[in-house]
Order: sequence, then C-alpha cells, then structure tokens
Amino acid sequence: MPSKVVGILGGGQLGRMLAASASLLNIKVIVLDVGVDAPAKQIVASPSHIDGSFRDKEKILELASQVDVLTVEIEHVDVEALETVQKSYPNVSIHPTPSTIRLIQDKYLQKEYLSKCGCPLGPFQAIEATPEGITYAAKELGLPLMLKSRTMAYDGRGNHVLRSTDSQSIVTAIESLGSGSRKLYAEKWVPFVKELAVMVVRGLDGTVSSYPAVETIHRDNICHIVWAPFRLRNIDEDPTLPTKAEQVAKEAIKKAFEGAGVFGVEMFLLENGEILINEIAPRPHNSGHYTIEACESSQYDNHIRAILGLPLGSTRLKVGAAGMLNILGSSNDVASKSTTSSSSLTFSDDTLVNELTHIALRTPGASPHLYGKGQSRKGRKMGHVTIVGSSSAEVRERMSPLLTCLAELEGGSQNDQHSSSINPHLLGYSHPHPLISIIMGSDSDLPTMLPAAQILAKHFPSIPFEVTLVSAHRTPLRLMNFARTAAARGVQVIIAGAGGAAHLPGMVASSTGVPVVGVPVDSKSVSGGGGGLGGVDAMWSILQMPRGIPVATVAINNSTNAALLAVRIVSAGQPQLVSQMEEYLRTLGKEVESKVDVMNDLGWAQYRK
Ligand SMILES: *[C@@H]1O[C@H](CO)[C@@H](O)[C@H](O)[C@H]1NC(C)=O
Ligand SMILES: *[C@@H]1O[C@H](CO)[C@@H](O)[C@H](O)[C@H]1NC(C)=O
Ligand SMILES: *[C@@H]1O[C@H](CO)[C@@H](O)[C@H](O)[C@H]1NC(C)=O
Repeated sequence: MPSKVVGILGGGQLGRMLAASASLLNIKVIVLDVGVDAPAKQIVASPSHIDGSFRDKEKILELASQVDVLTVEIEHVDVEALETVQKSYPNVSIHPTPSTIRLIQDKYLQKEYLSKCGCPLGPFQAIEATPEGITYAAKELGLPLMLKSRTMAYDGRGNHVLRSTDSQSIVTAIESLGSGSRKLYAEKWVPFVKELAVMVVRGLDGTVSSYPAVETIHRDNICHIVWAPFRLRNIDEDPTLPTKAEQVAKEAIKKAFEGAGVFGVEMFLLENGEILINEIAPRPHNSGHYTIEACESSQYDNHIRAILGLPLGSTRLKVGAAGMLNILGSSNDVASKSTTSSSSLTFSDDTLVNELTHIALRTPGASPHLYGKGQSRKGRKMGHVTIVGSSSAEVRERMSPLLTCLAELEGGSQNDQHSSSINPHLLGYSHPHPLISIIMGSDSDLPTMLPAAQILAKHFPSIPFEVTLVSAHRTPLRLMNFARTAAARGVQVIIAGAGGAAHLPGMVASSTGVPVVGVPVDSKSVSGGGGGLGGVDAMWSILQMPRGIPVATVAINNSTNAALLAVRIVSAGQPQLVSQMEEYLRTLGKEVESKVDVMNDLGWAQYRK
C-alpha cells in the first residue's frame, strides 16, 4: 500500500471510524485534537498524534508538516490555517478543499451557492440579529420560521423555531442564538413528510457515486434512527423517489463542491414528492454509519480510498436492509476528568448506554459501536447500534427491543411508531413492510385467496405479507401504482388472484420486475365474470401470457400452492427459508404417513367411508 500518511483534523467518533478503515490498509494516521485519548487516538497508536485544537493554526501547520494528505472529521476547523498549508506545503493535498470547507462552514453561503448551482432548496434569506430583522423575515417567509446561526451550528445547536412575532418570542429567539453575537439567517418552514439522506463519494479523478437513499428520523434536531434503504410506505408515492434523491445528491456534489472524499447530503421530502436539499457535510456523516455493516464498502473505507486516489469501493447494500440507532448520553457524568491529563483511560459509565449495548449484544444482526468517550453528557453521541437483516420488516423487528428499552429508561410511554412488536398477522392486518403481496381483483375472491395468507402466517411467520384488493378493470390507476411501487416498497413476490378474463396477474407483471404468481379463480357469480366456466377461463388467460412477460400459474383456486411457490422464490435470497420449507414438506409427509397407517388399519375398502 502507498506509504502515504493521512492527517485528520478532529479526533471524535468520525475520526475514530476513519482511522479504523485506514488501519485495515496499513495507512498511517495522525490525529489532531485536544487530549491524549480522544476517541480517534485510542484506536491507532502513534507517538505523532497532536494534542491541540483543530482551530489552532500552529497545530494545524505542525500536523501538515508530518502528512501527505489532510482531511477533516468536522468542518468547524480553521480554514485560514488550511489555506496557509496550501501555500507552505504545496505537496500536501487537502480534502475536502479549504474553499469547500469555507463555503460549508457558513450555512447561508452554502445555501446561496447551492442555489446558484441550481440545486433544489426551500426559500431562505440572511437576516440581522435584531427584532426588526427577525420581524421582517417572518413577514417575508411566514411562521413558523426556522432561525439559524450561519456558523458553528450542528446537532440542533444554533437553531431556533420562531412561532410568534410577539416581542417576548423575538427576545427569546435572539437570546438563544447568541444575543446578536452571531450572524443569522432564516429558512422558510418546510412542511416535509420525511427526511432523507444520501452519502456521496467522489474520487480524485472526479468520478461520483452514491450510497442508497436512507430515511432519517431526528429527535430534538439530533439524528435518532436511520432506515436503509429508504422504502416507500404506500402505493401512491412516486416509485422513483429513492433514485431521485440519489440523483439530487450526486448532482449537488458534482456541480457545487471540489475535492475528493465523502459528502453527506441531507434532504427533505415534501408531500408532493418534491425533494429539497437541507444541508451538506463535506465528510463522513452520522446518517452513513450503517454503511460499515450494510454496504460492500463503508463510507469510511471510501473516504480514505478517495483522498488517497485509490480505486473506490462498491457502495451497494450487501444486506436486505439495515437500521441504525444513535446512543446518546442520558445524563452528565458527575466525576470530572481532565481530558488533558496523561493517559489513564477511563470510559463513561452511563446506565442508558450500558443497557442499550447489552440488548444489542443479544440481538441477532446487531453491531454496537461505542466511541470511547470519557464523559457522558445528556444528548452527547456516545455510540450507535447498526442492525442488519434480510428485510426491512426483520430489521424493524430486531430494533424493537432497543426502542422499547429506550422508551422505558426515558420514562416515556412507548408510542414509537417504529417499534410495534405485535405481529399484525395475528390480528388479520397487513404488514407495513411486506415481502409477499397477495392481491385479488374482488373481495369475492377472498375465500379462495385466504388459504395463501393462512399458510404463510402458520408455517412461515418470519415472512411479512400483505393482503389487498387491486382490480385490473375497475381500478386501473391503483393497479399501475401498485405494480410500479412494489419493488420500492420492498415486495419480493406478488401473488395475484383473478377470475374470468383474469387480467390482473399479467397487467401487474407488465409493470414491475417483481415475480408474479397467478391464481386462476373459479368465480361462479355472474358479476365476477366467471360465467360458470369453472375457472378454466381464468386459467387459460393467466397461462397464455405473451413472450417476455411470464406469470407463474398454479392450479385453479390453488392459492396455497401460490403461497408455497412465493416462499420458494423468496428463499432464493434467504437460504434459511429453504430449511423452513423442508420442515413444511416433512409435515406434509407425516400427514400422508398417518393416512397410510389409517388405511392399513381399516383396509382400503373401508377407508373411503
Ligand atoms: C514536499 O515538498 C518539500 C519542498 O517542496 C520537500 O522538502 C518535502 O520533502 C516534500 N515532502 C514530500 C512528502 O514529498
Ligand atoms: C373455487 O373456490 C370457490 C370458492 O371457495 C368454490 O366455490 C369453487 O367451487 C372452487 N372451484 C374449484 C374448481 O375448486
Ligand atoms: C390445490 O390443488 C391440490 C391438488 O389438486 C388440491 O389437493 C388442493 O385441494 C387444491 N387447493 C385448493 C384450495 O383448491
């Protein structure tokens, strides 16, 4: 490997995970941060780590004198010092470039620049930190109004929501934003329905690729949970949303910023499907922690590769789905510990952090990460847990004990919509994250299709499914929406039952790449269109698909076999299901064997009676 040395400004958890990735390639890392045991310094031994602030010009120059490449884990560094490095050490490369960092440090300049580059943004404007300035902005942009400090704002610090323009509200706003000491700007309130994030990586040669779009959930302006990949929840959403989010993020990085490395792009999804950029971070990001366990190369691997000009790694998911939960400190540690004293490394002993870690250790697919911080503070990022699984449903199921514990320890009632551990199938409801979708053209088909649901619920409880009505002839728009969103909702097989002309399975198959199993339904009633043909009509209709659009077809009325075939299709990606299927086959074998015994006992002549 290249014997290049990487200097990191900042020694927190992002620096720690960057250093871990670098160490896998024998790449030497030198960390600049206050204290001898900053999180990043703990995991790569080096006599060269520098004790000092990443805002201290002398220290930054000292670091530059020892490295080939400089990078940051936090953007609030001294940019002038980096510009001096550019002049004094022309052979030290800096990623992201000082100009990019300068632009991103000031959130107002960042937005103004992104807007000039044609990136989608909500309305915003610079304001004076005075009552007049704020009142004017509220008149222009409306209430509620998001007031933000232009610099040094992160994890919700430096943000204030103005809900009224009475003088007390304005005084409070000014006080909470530095009492006029800081430059401010205002953002029009964005009524988003979801927050999304996309990590983007750019190589030294300018190639840009993105990680999958993820859904992020914030609490008190701090990242709480990340769900990967971003899944549509209902069939009325635009199935191209995830791709669009990735496109918006990639375009922003391509057009707006220089330098190699990883960028975190946070976005808002509006009700009408519009995607707006919220903020961009020029470094690995909290919303990309999940990539360590869930992607073929993590954001940290790729940041190191990018800044050293090594080939970039694949950004694809290598698991069905993943979730990440941030572990925040629950209280302030009482014991005060000097961070600059020579090393006697002690770690925080926060009850909440310990509890969550223990639960994670007992959860399949969960990887707890602790950051080695000496002191806990309420709201401080102490660690995170990433959970992987074969599907979004499985990941949510696995996350549920952690969220329950969190809710209990925080003393609140557990009303988190993401942590329902009740099996919806026991109650006869569809799962919100189905792998198999059972659809039919009419509720009169339900008695015929019900055995599919029953056999899934009974023998394959780990496979989430939904049951719904979609009619090819009566709700053609719903059919198109259903088919086009199926993959983006995480559906892996569709079982479609239809009688008479039976167009449903074929029409669905023509609009989605997801495999379709058709069930010809013997619909006796005239209104169902069966016309007393005994289901043969539907069977021929489903069998005789044109070339290029196959539909697997089972026997008339045989939704049971459709469900079993669907499980076999899903099991191609989940080998553990093959053994569940073999278990099911054994129960069938036992049934036959018991009949053999009965027949032997009674004699075949008696058996039919
Ligand atoms: C960088 O350049 C300076 C002078 O231009 C030289 O003294 C130094 O050895 C170079 N460092 C590296 C790592 O090539
Ligand atoms: C199919 O199922 C329906 C409803 O249960 C029933 O009325 C009909 O006789 C069945 N037809 C065949 C061919 O099994
Ligand atoms: C499905 O087909 C098999 C074999 O013909 C039959 O035993 C079973 O009863 C059928 N199921 C239904 C629901 O028609």
